[in-house]
Amino acid sequence: MSWVLQGVSILGGPPTDVLVDGGVIAEIGAGLRGEQTLDAAGLVALPGLVDLHTHLREPGREDAETVETGTAAAALGGFTAVHAMANTDPVADTAGVVEQVFHLGRAAGHCDVAPVGAVTVGLRGTALAELGAMATSAARVRVFSDDGVCVSDAGLMRRALEYVKAFDGVVAQHAEEPSLTVGAQLHEGVVSAQLGLAGWPAVAEEAIIARDCLLAGHVGSRLHICHVSTAGSVELIRFAKARGIDVTAEVTPHHLLLTDASATGYDPVFKVNPPLRTRADVDAVRAGLADGTIDAVATDHAPHATEDKETEWAAARPGMLGLQTALPIVAGLGLAWSVIAERMSSAPARIGRLPGHGRPIAVGEPANLCLFDPAATWTVDGHALASRAHNTPYEGMTMTGAVVATFLRGEPTVLDGKLT
Ligand code: DOR
Ligand code: ZN
Repeated sequence: MSWVLQGVSILGGPPTDVLVDGGVIAEIGAGLRGEQTLDAAGLVALPGLVDLHTHLREPGREDAETVETGTAAAALGGFTAVHAMANTDPVADTAGVVEQVFHLGRAAGHCDVAPVGAVTVGLRGTALAELGAMATSAARVRVFSDDGVCVSDAGLMRRALEYVKAFDGVVAQHAEEPSLTVGAQLHEGVVSAQLGLAGWPAVAEEAIIARDCLLAGHVGSRLHICHVSTAGSVELIRFAKARGIDVTAEVTPHHLLLTDASATGYDPVFKVNPPLRTRADVDAVRAGLADGTIDAVATDHAPHATEDKETEWAAARPGMLGLQTALPIVAGLGLAWSVIAERMSSAPARIGRLPGHGRPIAVGEPANLCLFDPAATWTVDGHALASRAHNTPYEGMTMTGAVVATFLRGEPTVLDGKLT
């Protein structure tokens, strides 16, 4: 089916028509015709968003999320590809599990699913997983991460960095020195002291980032830092990049918007790892995202079953939903549309080595697109989101900007803000 996106603004540019045909962008110009027409006046076209960090929970916690429900949420959020994190049950540490997740993604059809492979067997941090077998499997794994836990052993981290070079892979580190975060509940600072919750100090993140940048430089490998949350982390990554170290970094929408002050009511919906930080940290990660020190926005979409989340703070699991609220939050930061496209599509596609995604909106390119209405407003209702879980920290909040349509290789996965 061919589509004309009529009067659309490509990255905020002047209105034009875009003809999508045969899975690609066939023509751009005035007065185009196709089998179907979408009135896109007032809509901004972005390349389909790519998430480097999505917890889809399948296999193992299908009561919290499945590949079907998580990728439905992704498509509704404007995403055409997501990286599925490896901390499932069983852990995605073998070719068999990553192939299963990959095939479930294909079958659901809402967006592409690129499985992340675990770095260590069982996320236990003692022996490397079969990285090569995952890389050469049908899932073509390029991103390896023990996310949820840090690869804290420096020698093992070095081996992982060396190993992934063979297949152009990247190690995505959850930077948390475990001996500094025993029992930690919230950012170590004024608010944690007031609430009487054990602190998660910024230095636990920064110490690992410093170490791993030095390791990546030493072995000449590619390193990615997950969910950067502190001002000091931004400084360290800026320093490493200036030294020519091949490091990239992501920041989450929640670390761009929320602070540890959200925790004052002890509502565990705001519990997340790394924790929400201070206003100064939020300002620093925003500046890092704007100047490119932080390459990408990644959601860290972390659905949790009600009984795991709606409990006392210390017992609650860390993590929050993110896929359907990411673009409105980032669009509210005042970045140019071209910068948003780079940080939410092109950079994550490059880091994850997904060649069909994150491409410019130009004739001949794959028609992976997100059409966004920057003027629309809507109120977040956790029970109306597509995820199986409801743990959104934005409940009741009015968002400005809504995804109207998502196209995956020329076919709409979302139209009129609804799944097709
Ligand atoms: O808040 C988090 N939730 N941080 C992580 O690193 C893991 C994630 C999860 O799996 O729920
Ligand atoms: Zn993590």
